[in-house]
Amino acid sequence: MRSNIAKTASTARGELSFLWAHDHMGIISKIKEKYMSRQPLAGYKLGFCLHITKETAVLLMAAKDLGARITACSANPLSTQDDVAAFLSNQGISIYAWQGQNEKEFNECLRKVISSDPQILTDDGAELHVRANSLRRKGIIGGTEETTTGITRLRALQIKKGLIYPVVGVNDAPTKYLFDNRFGTGQSTLDGLMRATGILVAGKRVVVCGYGWVGKGVATRARGMGGIVTITEIDPIKALEACMDGYDVKRLADVADSGDIFITCTGQTNVIRKEHIVKMKPGVILANTGHFDVEIDVKYLYEQDTNPLPVRENVDAFYIQDRKIYLVCKGRVINLVSGEGHPPEVMSLSFANQIFSILFIAKYHDKLRNRLYKVPNHVNNTVARYCIEAMKIKLDSLTRIQKAYKNSV
Ligand SMILES: NC(=O)c1ccc[n+]([C@@H]2O[C@H](COP(=O)([O-])OP(=O)(O)OC[C@H]3O[C@@H](n4cnc5c(N)ncnc54)[C@H](O)[C@@H]3O)[C@@H](O)[C@H]2O)c1
Repeated sequence: MRSNIAKTASTARGELSFLWAHDHMGIISKIKEKYMSRQPLAGYKLGFCLHITKETAVLLMAAKDLGARITACSANPLSTQDDVAAFLSNQGISIYAWQGQNEKEFNECLRKVISSDPQILTDDGAELHVRANSLRRKGIIGGTEETTTGITRLRALQIKKGLIYPVVGVNDAPTKYLFDNRFGTGQSTLDGLMRATGILVAGKRVVVCGYGWVGKGVATRARGMGGIVTITEIDPIKALEACMDGYDVKRLADVADSGDIFITCTGQTNVIRKEHIVKMKPGVILANTGHFDVEIDVKYLYEQDTNPLPVRENVDAFYIQDRKIYLVCKGRVINLVSGEGHPPEVMSLSFANQIFSILFIAKYHDKLRNRLYKVPNHVNNTVARYCIEAMKIKLDSLTRIQKAYKNSV
């Protein structure tokens, strides 16, 4: 295993990326200003499993500035920005991440973080939490979780085996999912698609699988670029919402032969399968922006063509029944593998929630039960208020008469 590719990458470029993100993440600076003198994380060892991007660097540096010692690995073998990892390593953060890890290396890096004896774990997809819980790892006082898929896994773990420490489900905070999942993933998924393929979206038939927060963001951006968007769903309420938002809603089987671009956003497994792929048009593009690389049946593609042609960086052409089927980023999360992940402005909301949740665990862990917790409402309000202030937006407030009217019967 390479111990740390960071040594060979460009620390200076990583620092410039960090500074760029930092300057667009005003809320994090505000939180730092407020808490720095108190050093609320002094004496705490934190373990992180997040995509190692410039925005994550801002979070890790903020946690370090608040007193924590940090070990981090990547939440995906292909999403690390090596220059950012180099910069973090240079700043005294123990970092086990590099771009292009194989499965064994990825797992070894997770193990390194767990064996660094962290007290609080911050995860994206619950890989650390699942491991720490199955090892019944001692000394962990709590954790936080960044994404929808991670929350789903933790809920299952809570029901089946019980959690061994409390976890704050950051994803479920409105100041996270309404912005990060929708606007962040919406924009960065289309950005990832552009960088990988360079194709014109206008006039293309784009099929978005799943109309949750991520699907809504992706569909809006694809439509904004002139795509003709169809939604597939399993939930009648989401399907209705998509319909009234003006999209065609169809079964995947019924749209498989007409779509030009398919983007999975469900968090489910085996969504685009053989029965769909065999119907698809020549030249169709398949991409995934859900957390794990399980939404497209990539195994089937490799069974049909064991030696796909890498036509571009991050695009492989599979020859199946005389047709070319293009798979982007090997079915892994497109916005992080082919793009830079979410823009810093939305990540400042998500990571503000992360910092407040870590502080919450540090302060109250001995009063908490071993279960999933929501981000407290007052934290959501604070994060939104900080963001509004950082954007220099001014709000109206209720007049005396309006307050009285609100409380009248
Ligand atoms: N790429 C990123 O940066 C990023 C950011 C946030 C979340 N995510 C991930 O994206 C995925 C979706 O997140 P979300 O917050 O939108 O979740 P969500 O629960 O809000 O939405 C998922 C939607 O998919 C639908 N669905 C489930 N199975 C389906 C199927 N077989 N066919 C069609 N629709 C189906 C569900 O009914 C639901 O409406 C998760 O894996 C999440 O972790 C990725």
